[in-house]
Amino acid sequence: MTAAPGKNADRGDAAIDVPTIRGQLPALSRTVHDKPLIYLDAAATTPRPQPVIDAVTSYETNYPANVHRGVHELSGEATAAYEDARRRIAAFLGAQTHGLVFTRGTTESINLVANTSGGTLEPGDEVLISALEHHANIVPWQLACQRTGSALRVVDVDDHATLHLAAVEDAITDRTRIIAITQVSNAVGTLTPIREICTLARSRGITSLVDAAQAAPHMGVDFADTGCDFMAFSGHKMYAPTGIGGLLASPSMLDAMPPWQGGGDMIRTVSFESCTWNEVPWKFEAGTPNIGGAIGLGAAVDWLGGIGMHAIAAREQELLGDAVARLHSIDRIRLIGEPTKRAGAISFVVEGMHPADVGAMLDRHGIAVRAGHHCAQPILERFGISATVRIAPAFYNTHDELESFEAALRRIIDVFG
Ligand code: ALA
Repeated sequence: MTAAPGKNADRGDAAIDVPTIRGQLPALSRTVHDKPLIYLDAAATTPRPQPVIDAVTSYETNYPANVHRGVHELSGEATAAYEDARRRIAAFLGAQTHGLVFTRGTTESINLVANTSGGTLEPGDEVLISALEHHANIVPWQLACQRTGSALRVVDVDDHATLHLAAVEDAITDRTRIIAITQVSNAVGTLTPIREICTLARSRGITSLVDAAQAAPHMGVDFADTGCDFMAFSGHKMYAPTGIGGLLASPSMLDAMPPWQGGGDMIRTVSFESCTWNEVPWKFEAGTPNIGGAIGLGAAVDWLGGIGMHAIAAREQELLGDAVARLHSIDRIRLIGEPTKRAGAISFVVEGMHPADVGAMLDRHGIAVRAGHHCAQPILERFGISATVRIAPAFYNTHDELESFEAALRRIIDVFG
């Protein structure tokens, strides 16, 4: 069944009712070290809304059965809920229903492509990635290149961490077979010109993969409109449970690829001599899937769609602008990456202080941030550092919370810096 691209992404109102949203995110009302939690770590994982918790609880409580296997009522209910979640998630992301393969998340999705399409690489071929990539979009390609004798090439960013289309174009050679690029950098927040990159790739006959893990929670991501061949995303970064995510591709593209993991459900027939494969997307879903996770992800996209991705994007731009201005106002803070377009995250270092110490001290104030290399060591190395403090505000955060964050950071620097 073909769903209308991205039709769920924009049902919401223009203005976000932040108190109501916060009321739907139970984790936000807890305290940490006797302080109200200020959660600024959405890039690592997002809090789960009550409708998602309810959907998962309902599956686990009322119909905890396997899918595609049973003839009994509970199995029928589980199969219907799992496949209906696939339909709604694919529509939300602008893909065809049978173009969504459920995976454990972005990492597994990229490994799937690197182990199947990547298998068509030949000695001397090139895979092009950017300097911004998460390890999940570096290591699978390194392994694919080692297996096939092809080479991994990297497009650099400028000194503000902006990725330019011209740099990508310059890095393409007649041996480039795959371009795999993130839409938003998890480490420094760069928003890349992904649509233009994918259009360029398609015009040159190059396969393209978009790592949308950090984009999908922040803007109306649309697989069809992006013009890529593959798009990978993670549920837990878009308000669903961990251990569920997906790979988007056209069903015909998936059909042409060899299977990756073998096991139950991905086959049509099995004998000791040979097998035939199930239809896509099930050909790529070996073993019992994360059924509750998929149902939870279905509830998450319904929740996001009800709020509206344009409204979310607008509010988050406003919060990011506020946070950047506050960080600029503090002496001894250096932002790592000041890209022309940003989403999701802001990275910084405090002169003379280790990021892990800053992160641990913010935690004592009830403020959750991430400190470290963010699974993106090469981009930090590009800026001559090995770690940063990263804040990742989302639409449920408030300007008051950013003010408290600034005040805590100033106090930490005054006392310990
Ligand atoms: N990739 C996640 C992050 O950026 C874990 O924090």
